[in-house]
Amino acid sequence: MQQVPAVQIDGITLSQSLSPMMLLSWLMPLCLSALEPIWKETAGKYCVGDEISMADICLIPQVYNAELDVDQFPTIKRLNQTLLKVDAFKESHPSCQLDTPAEICT
Ligand SMILES: *[C@@H]1O[C@H](CO)[C@@H](O)[C@H](O)[C@H]1NC(C)=O
Repeated sequence: MQQVPAVQIDGITLSQSLSPMMLLSWLMPLCLSALEPIWKETAGKYCVGDEISMADICLIPQVYNAELDVDQFPTIKRLNQTLLKVDAFKESHPSCQLDTPAEICT
């Protein structure tokens, strides 16, 4: 089995035994807290101005996967809510994929 070396970020040591899910649950809030001030500056209706961009396409799965309360990220919270009113985002939401049971798709 391949091993991942230990790294230290912000004084926290991530060891070889850290599972990918633990790593993600640690990284996602960091990622969103880095993006919040950027999107606060660039956002109009969407992440960058009033046109849907690649940033918007990335935001929805990030928020979905983060599985955290986005109240601490007001811009991201607003963008998530705005984007999920757009049909293309509703239809392609991670919980609405072809193999997702119908009762899970909202
Ligand atoms: C994102 O927005 C949708 C639609 O308003 C909402 O149901 C969902 O809870 C929001 N996600 C988060 C993490 O707040």
